[in-house]
Amino acid sequence: MVPTSSTVVPNHVAIVMDGNGRWATKRFLPRIAGHKQGVDSLSRCVQACLDRGISVLTVFAFSSENWNRPAEEVSGLMELLAYSLSKEVPSLNANGVQLRFVGDRTRLSEKVQAGLAQAELDTSANQRLIFNVCFNYGGRWDIAQAANRLAVRGEAITELSLDREMALAHVPDPDLLIRTGGELRISNFLLWQAAYSELHFSDKLWPEFDEAALDEAIAVFRTRERRFGKTSAQVSGRSTNENTKAA
Ligand code: FPP
Repeated sequence: MVPTSSTVVPNHVAIVMDGNGRWATKRFLPRIAGHKQGVDSLSRCVQACLDRGISVLTVFAFSSENWNRPAEEVSGLMELLAYSLSKEVPSLNANGVQLRFVGDRTRLSEKVQAGLAQAELDTSANQRLIFNVCFNYGGRWDIAQAANRLAVRGEAITELSLDREMALAHVPDPDLLIRTGGELRISNFLLWQAAYSELHFSDKLWPEFDEAALDEAIAVFRTRERRFGKTSAQVSGRSTNENTKAA
């Protein structure tokens, strides 16, 4: 795929939703108020992806490292997850959204685990948008769990075999990876899958990331030439015998 035309929409958008805490602190609110606002922003983002014909949305909702946050914030995020599921699943279903949770569930309470499984089951037939919520997820965890599954079965570890065991094996790699909140890092998100994703960093805090901000990210994506190791001339079809040095 060489998405340099002005009409191409990224097939798979991944987002590090950063800035909820700062959004709340600026308003003298508790951090969890920022996360609640973050859920509203996420809900709008799902609708915006549907409207734009994006096929896969993957978001980082809780990292393997987020357990180190204050206990009150961690429990607040768990409650918010359970509440958001009960609130959002009917409209996700009505809009053809298939919800998938990606990450290590074993540390979550039985109640939360049951809620995730039920939400996945309830939306499993939907095909319009695959919505991956990474929860208790880390890119390093993902690579390790994939390698471990192969090792247990005594299978060779190759790029292809690992790829098939990764937690996002059900979708193609992200085309566009967005991080909000002004920080310029990946923070252990999709380390394997983002090898050739286009990166976009937005200064907007996640609760303020709206349709216009998504459109700006898509517009920037459209200006990028995706070479996947080839030369510019190769991907544009201008050359047939050029030296194929990796870009
Ligand atoms: C990072 O912002 C955000 C998170 C760790 C949580 C993201 C969660 C949501 C957007 C809500 C959706 C969540 C559920 C449970 C469905 P931050 O808190 O690190 O912000 P800061 O950098 O301003 O402190």
